[in-house]
Amino acid sequence: MKQKYILFVCLVQTLLFRTTHALSIFPGDAYWADTSGVPIQAHGGGFLKLGDTYYWFGEDKTEGGHLFHYVNCYKSTDLVNWEYVSHALSADEGSGSEIGSDAVVERPKVIYNERNQQFVMWFHLDSSNYGLAKLGIAVSNTVQGPYQYQGSVSPFDEDSRDMTVWVDEADTAKSAYLVYATRVNLDTVIAKLSPDYLSIQERLLKLDGIHREAYAVFKKNDLYYIVMSRATGWDSNSNEYMYSRSMSGPWSERFQIAPGSSNTFDSQSNYVIPLPNGNFIFAGDRWNRNDLSDSRYMWLPINIGSNNDISIHWTSQFSLDMNTGSASNRSSRAYDSRSPEADLVGNAVVMPCSGCDNGDSVGYIGLGGKLAFRGVYGSQTATHSVLISYANGDSTRRYATLNVNNGAWERNITFPKSGGGQVTKQIVVHVPLNQGAVNELEISNEVGYAPDIDFLKIEFMG
Ligand SMILES: *[C@@H]1O[C@H](CO)[C@@H](O)[C@H](O)[C@H]1NC(C)=O
Ligand SMILES: *[C@@H]1O[C@H](CO)[C@@H](O)[C@H](O)[C@H]1NC(C)=O
Repeated sequence: MKQKYILFVCLVQTLLFRTTHALSIFPGDAYWADTSGVPIQAHGGGFLKLGDTYYWFGEDKTEGGHLFHYVNCYKSTDLVNWEYVSHALSADEGSGSEIGSDAVVERPKVIYNERNQQFVMWFHLDSSNYGLAKLGIAVSNTVQGPYQYQGSVSPFDEDSRDMTVWVDEADTAKSAYLVYATRVNLDTVIAKLSPDYLSIQERLLKLDGIHREAYAVFKKNDLYYIVMSRATGWDSNSNEYMYSRSMSGPWSERFQIAPGSSNTFDSQSNYVIPLPNGNFIFAGDRWNRNDLSDSRYMWLPINIGSNNDISIHWTSQFSLDMNTGSASNRSSRAYDSRSPEADLVGNAVVMPCSGCDNGDSVGYIGLGGKLAFRGVYGSQTATHSVLISYANGDSTRRYATLNVNNGAWERNITFPKSGGGQVTKQIVVHVPLNQGAVNELEISNEVGYAPDIDFLKIEFMG
C-alpha cells in the first residue's frame, strides 16, 4: 500500500513538474530585466512574501548618484520574473521635508504588521554627506504604497547607518527586530521593535567595535542567523555570519560565508530570502561605486551544513523549484552570428568586436536592419530565460524590440551603456517559447540603432 502511494505521489509530482519550467537566475554580472524589458532598479533591497507573491523593495538609482528619488516595488511568484509595481516611496520636495531629493534613503525594508494590518517601511535616512545618520519610517495600508513618511529617529540618541528590520514569523507574538550600525559603523546594535513596529522598544545587545554593516537576518532550525558585511564603502569584502538561539545572544563567533578571495563573489549582503522547506537565497548587491545605477544583483542559494554552518558557492546559472525550495544548476544554448539559425536582414552586418565571443558581433541592427534567429530550440512550451550579450557603440543606453514568434511576445528592451562597441554587457529577459527547434527571435529597432549583438543564450532543460 505504502509503495503504491509513493508511486502515485511520484507520478503526480512528475506531472506537476512538467508544467512548471523554472526560470534561470544569472548572478552578478548580467542586468535583470523586469517584465516590461527595463533593468530592475531595486538596490539595497528587502523582500516581503504575501501568499505566493514576493515583493522586492529597493533603491531606484536610475538617475545616477547616491541621492534619493524612489524606493521601487516589484513583484514575482518565482523570484525571477519580476513585474514593476510602483514607486512605493517617492522623494518629497515640500519645504522642510526630510526625504527630498537632497536626502539619502538606503536599504529600505518593509515588514507587515498583522495586528494593525499595516505595512511598515524602515530605512537608513541620511544627508548627502552621510552626516545625519538616522532611521526613517514610512507606512502604508497596501503593500505597493504610496508609503506615508512618519519621521525619523536617532536610536538611543546615537547615529545609525546600515540597518535591517526582520519579523520572526515562527514566533507567535510576531516580534520584529532592528539591527543597525552605530558609532560610525564601529558597533552593531540589535533591538526589538514595539508591537506596532513603529518604534524601538528595547535594546537587546550591543556588539562593540566589530565594524560591520549590511545586515540580513534569517531563522533556521530555531537558530537566528545574522549575515553582515565589513564596512568598506561600496567595495565588496568577505561577508560573515553569526548565529544564536536568541536575538539577545550569546552569538557565535563570526564565520565567512563565501571563499575569502572572492569577496562574497563581489557582492554585499542585503537580504536573505526564505524559500519553501527551510531553504534560503543570499541576496547581495554588486555595487558599482563609479555609477550606482549600474550596480547589479548577486544571488546564490545558501547551503546549510550539519554544524549550523552556512555557505554560498559559485554557479553562473541556476533555477529555483518553488515547490521544494531547492536550487539546481542550469545551462543554456548559445546562438551567435555564426549559428545556422542567424539571419541578417537589411543593413545588419557582422563586425569585429574584440570583447565578443568569437571576436565579432552583429551591428547596424535598426532602421531596417534586423537580426533574426530562426529555428531556436525551446525545451518546453513555456517561458524561458534568454541572456543577450551586447555592445553599445556609443556611451548611452540603447533600445531594441525583441519580437518572439511573429508577435506572440514583444518588448522594447533597455540596454544600459556597455562601455563602447568592443565591450560587452549582458541582460536577461524571460520570453515564452514553443517546444522544439521552431522559435523565431527577431531583434530590431524602428526609430534608432539597437545594440550590436554578440550572442543570445537560451535556457536549456536537458
Ligand atoms: C553547479 O555549477 C558549479 C559551477 O558553475 C559547480 O562548481 C557545481 O559543482 C555545480 N553543482 C552541481 C550540483 O552540479
Ligand atoms: C523604446 O523605448 C524608448 C524609451 O522609452 C523609446 O525612446 C523608443 O522609441 C522605444 N522604441 C520603440 C521601437 O518603440
